[in-house]
Amino acid sequence: MQATEGFTITAHFDESHAAKYDRRIRQFCPGYDALHDLAAAWCAALPPDTRFLSSGAGTGAEILALGRRFPSWNFVAVDVSADMIQACRDNTASTGMAGRVDFFTGRVQDYQASAPFDAAASIFVAHFIKGRDEKLAYFKSIAANLQIGGMFILADLFGDKQSSSFAPLLDAWLRHYASHGVDADTLAKDRAHVERDIDYRPESELIALLAEAGFAPPVRFFQALLFGAWVTVRAV
Ligand SMILES: C[S@@+](CC[C@H](N)C(=O)[O-])C[C@H]1O[C@@H](n2cnc3c(N)ncnc32)[C@H](O)[C@@H]1O
Repeated sequence: MQATEGFTITAHFDESHAAKYDRRIRQFCPGYDALHDLAAAWCAALPPDTRFLSSGAGTGAEILALGRRFPSWNFVAVDVSADMIQACRDNTASTGMAGRVDFFTGRVQDYQASAPFDAAASIFVAHFIKGRDEKLAYFKSIAANLQIGGMFILADLFGDKQSSSFAPLLDAWLRHYASHGVDADTLAKDRAHVERDIDYRPESELIALLAEAGFAPPVRFFQALLFGAWVTVRAV
């Protein structure tokens, strides 16, 4: 299930969102570009003919970052939003990557590659998937598309809403976001969005879900307030 009352993933990531996404995400997520640089550092050990699955590719940020750094890699961009896939298509074409990227419009849970990938990333996608079983099915579908030993990079908003650190981290995020000159209306709307539409999970639960989906214990390599990123490999 990817809809809560008043929120559906495709309506949220529509054409108007796609057009503004690349500017807004950098205000919204502290260290967004650093996260992609660090992901590329983990990927540097992968072979030159790597095939990479971008799960919830959005406008193509990870494909652009990795594609620049690893010019012999090929990619598949999967996204449920046709508008985001179109933006990804435009962005990769305008950076000379047109021949290196294939596209699938639909849920990753409904995508089956003809051959397993060497590596995959899911950057700021799984936190929109509500419910333990649905999140597990999402992680399992990524594992099923990876070869055994294939690398998986996960980035998500995370945390335990009941813990004493959650509210201070959320407040710090809001102050950081406000410092980029975001107007009061947008600030209020986005605060409500991250409180209502994100399915936060404590790190221990994410680790358990990844294990159940067939991944090795992950290493957290990035954290900026409530945003975290982990690297793991398909174990079974
Ligand atoms: C916040 S954007 C992240 C885009 C990109 N990965 C990045 O780092 O900027 C989340 C994207 O995930 C897509 N998405 C959400 N659930 C999905 C699913 N189950 N399968 C494929 N795409 C999904 C949305 O349409 C949206 O484009």
